[in-house]
Amino acid sequence: MIINNHSIYNQLLDKISYSNDINILNKYFNQEYGFISFFSSSKKVQDFKTFLKKNLDNQKSIEFDYQDLGDFQTPFEFSVDVCNFLSKITEKSEVLIEPTCGKGNFVLAALKTIPSIKYIYCVEIQSKYEWIFKIRLILFLKTYRKRVQIEFHNENIFTHEFSPKFLDMMKEKDCIILGNPPWVTNTELENLGSKNLPKKSNFKKFKGIDSITGKSNFDIAEYIIYHLISKFDKYNGYICMLCKNIVIRNIIKENPKLYLNIGEITQLNFDSKKIFNINANASVFIAKLNSPPEYTCVSTNFHNSSHRCELGWYHKKFVSDIAKYKETEKFDGNFSYEWRQGIKHDLSRIMVLKKHDDKGEYINGNKEKIALEEDLIFPYLKSSDLKKMIVNKSRFFTIITQKKVGEDTKYIKEKFPKTWNYLNQNVELFRRRKSSIYRNKPDFSIFGIGKYSFAKFKIGVSGLYKKLNFALIYPIGNKPVMLDDTCYLVPFGKKKDAIITWTYLNCKEVSQFMESITFQDTKRPYTKDVLMRIDLHSIVKNIELSKILDFYKKELFNLTNYELKLEDFKTYRKNLDPSNVIEVDKDKKKFRSF
Ligand SMILES: C[S@@+](CC[C@H](N)C(=O)[O-])C[C@H]1O[C@@H](n2cnc3c(N)ncnc32)[C@H](O)[C@@H]1O
Repeated sequence: MIINNHSIYNQLLDKISYSNDINILNKYFNQEYGFISFFSSSKKVQDFKTFLKKNLDNQKSIEFDYQDLGDFQTPFEFSVDVCNFLSKITEKSEVLIEPTCGKGNFVLAALKTIPSIKYIYCVEIQSKYEWIFKIRLILFLKTYRKRVQIEFHNENIFTHEFSPKFLDMMKEKDCIILGNPPWVTNTELENLGSKNLPKKSNFKKFKGIDSITGKSNFDIAEYIIYHLISKFDKYNGYICMLCKNIVIRNIIKENPKLYLNIGEITQLNFDSKKIFNINANASVFIAKLNSPPEYTCVSTNFHNSSHRCELGWYHKKFVSDIAKYKETEKFDGNFSYEWRQGIKHDLSRIMVLKKHDDKGEYINGNKEKIALEEDLIFPYLKSSDLKKMIVNKSRFFTIITQKKVGEDTKYIKEKFPKTWNYLNQNVELFRRRKSSIYRNKPDFSIFGIGKYSFAKFKIGVSGLYKKLNFALIYPIGNKPVMLDDTCYLVPFGKKKDAIITWTYLNCKEVSQFMESITFQDTKRPYTKDVLMRIDLHSIVKNIELSKILDFYKKELFNLTNYELKLEDFKTYRKNLDPSNVIEVDKDKKKFRSF
């Protein structure tokens, strides 16, 4: 982007050529435009001259390729829309703080739409934006004959210290903290070798922030927002930030621990594909500062507020729709069996096979034809195979090298030499698997394997698909079916138990409950934690036997052809009673065995 406004460049160049004295120049920019210390050092005077000359020569001076800084400048039109919205709730705000101001679209939009603003405080880490921002602001102030005071700091918001003088002034005034902090995660930054990360020690002083620093992957925006709220939640005003929805959820989730003084929390969803050409679920996050801490948030659409829901904490549970949850709260508890995640091997091109013929030949992901013994080969399902209600066919197969996690794999050499050879031809790929779980484990180890994997019947569900569907999985070719690690399963030894559980899981009570606690805008809406919350016993207790039998007969019987009587549901209900517990896991949770 090149600013092609030659006349302003010439004017400014003329002005700063009069003197090299930074004090005289700063006095000029203060009197003329309201900047407090336009130049922070003599070097900056030279920088500015170079910048102006370059632009006058029409040279390319600015490039937008700073991925590690999450550098997606907010389109001016959208900044105006956001500020128009804000102007209705923050009529008397005098101070605007933009912590990551970039080229300043939010600042200009706020000046255009919120007349009460008199003081602008900006921070931006990239020096290339300083002159663009300042020149745009000068042009704006000249055009609209506005008079404000401006502080700009070319610094990192994580280390920037707000001056006591500024904080003193803030005691008397209402503020708006406004901006669009970078939407990148620390892991993405680390992969890019970026240093734009908060130092953990800086965050220790925040209330309860330790609990968050423990998280393995977090958004930089989340830290910037915590940082600002922690600094300013005793001052009057609002914070308004564009960020991913997950950031807003995390703030609300953590607030009972952090006790941040924010209320009237709102999430205004917008189409980030349309506005930023990015695929992310994002919103305008707005909260009132200096307000008793709140733990819920109203979620609606930025452009159309007809659908509203409230998400957050309700009766010590974190839910996606409080109104819906109130109706299904009685089903929130513990599932009677243990949900398990499918097989993890991190080597699909070697481990996931297709059948080539019936003589034991398979094709792997590298399109290599391989002959293997049948014994360690099992039918294998992916998330996309679980869209059906009943699964009795598989497109894929996998090699199951262990019966339980950590089992020695050397037995394969003697018993299944073809399989052993194939695995050994690819041993380096197995050893290069990145995840630390494979470290110090036998070659060809897999995870998500145990007695349950070999159960004859299973109910499977995809963790990834938005539409919830519990699939009944039959053995295929007399073999138990394996699922990949995007799926979750409950194992059953008896067909009848599997079918009755599947019937209950597919009833509307379960789907309504799941809708009220899951977040459809996450990559994996259904996790083990979420599935374990379905209180099967309560579902069974609350649905009349005749009703569930009816549902089975009308909706499901034609898929199974398996006769069930009222008595079967009665016995099932009796067996499910928590007093009939069979297994207890390491966390002392009780389950029924399969
Ligand atoms: C998504 S852009 C938004 C810019 C501007 N707020 C807007 O809405 O157009 C994020 C901005 O944050 C700046 N930034 C990234 N990390 C920063 C940090 N640690 N301190 C200050 N600014 C930072 C980037 O340089 C970039 O200009």
